[in-house]
Amino acid sequence: RVLRAIRRLGITPSVLDFLRAAIKSPCGFEEFDFTLCCHDPRRPTPTQRPTQRPTQRPTEAPTPSCGISESTNNRIIGGQEVTSAQKWAWAAILGIPNGNRIRVLCGGTLINDRYVLTAAHCFGGTDPTHVRLGELDIASFDNRHQDIRIGSKIIHPNWSRRTLKNDIALVRMVSTPRPALNKPVCLPYSYVNVRPENLKEGGVVIGWGAIDNHDKATVDTLREAILPIESVSSCNRKYSDTNVNIGNDQICAGSGNKDTCQGDSGGPMLSLERDGSRWSIIGITSFGVDCADTRFPGVYTRVDKYLDWIEQNTK
Ligand code: ARG
Repeated sequence: RVLRAIRRLGITPSVLDFLRAAIKSPCGFEEFDFTLCCHDPRRPTPTQRPTQRPTQRPTEAPTPSCGISESTNNRIIGGQEVTSAQKWAWAAILGIPNGNRIRVLCGGTLINDRYVLTAAHCFGGTDPTHVRLGELDIASFDNRHQDIRIGSKIIHPNWSRRTLKNDIALVRMVSTPRPALNKPVCLPYSYVNVRPENLKEGGVVIGWGAIDNHDKATVDTLREAILPIESVSSCNRKYSDTNVNIGNDQICAGSGNKDTCQGDSGGPMLSLERDGSRWSIIGITSFGVDCADTRFPGVYTRVDKYLDWIEQNTK
């Protein structure tokens, strides 16, 4: 958005002032990226020269209505059961329906009325055929959920089974969900170039994945957990004996007793938008070594690094 303003206005003195203020510590650079801080309305700016565009909420989510949780109370291994399907209304199961039940293969997240965001590694083995929305307890015979057939999938072209990089995919459903289940999450526009390890609140992970390292069966009721986020450098050190390298397009999280596990893959790591009460998807459950192993944090695809790819492929 700042870029758009620069393109529109050019580098005027006020745009320069804005950029200078925005890259002041604790903002600044992250690897090759500028980390801009947005205008804080509670604090008056020292130089009162508001430029038109940049100070005007540069991080507005384009989805008309997204990320609204109908649950007011506000843990997967070390987590807890979710008690309302409305809390994480964008939570999807990617699986194979079997009568009223469904075989859970992966998680996914509704991002608009046609597309579900998931992990690339959810495809290439036993592929899911359907997206299930509106589910909470797979074993309950209610008809609140809806299964929609997967029409096509878009796997990130740079997904690598060897390096486990770019573990992100889009699923296009053959039809739109019924209105009550059309509750997409927000995309993390307010998290672009924000270091995830600065998120003191941690990341919320959800899924129907396993809760036991030995019995890797998925569970019937959706679970949630809040995971502490670890820096990429520390995480990379922990993975140094393996053949994967963790980078800034990934997020590491978990604490040895809280983690995602088999079957949670493709599901979201959620965080509240930095300027409000909407939830956005900041990560996609990707991989780990076993589950809740103190030596290895779980690794998540960092969604804000793929916003352009998502936009281009969901038109
Ligand atoms: N890759 C696994 C899956 O396909 C689980 C990913 C998370 N593992 C972890 N220890 N955090 O479901």
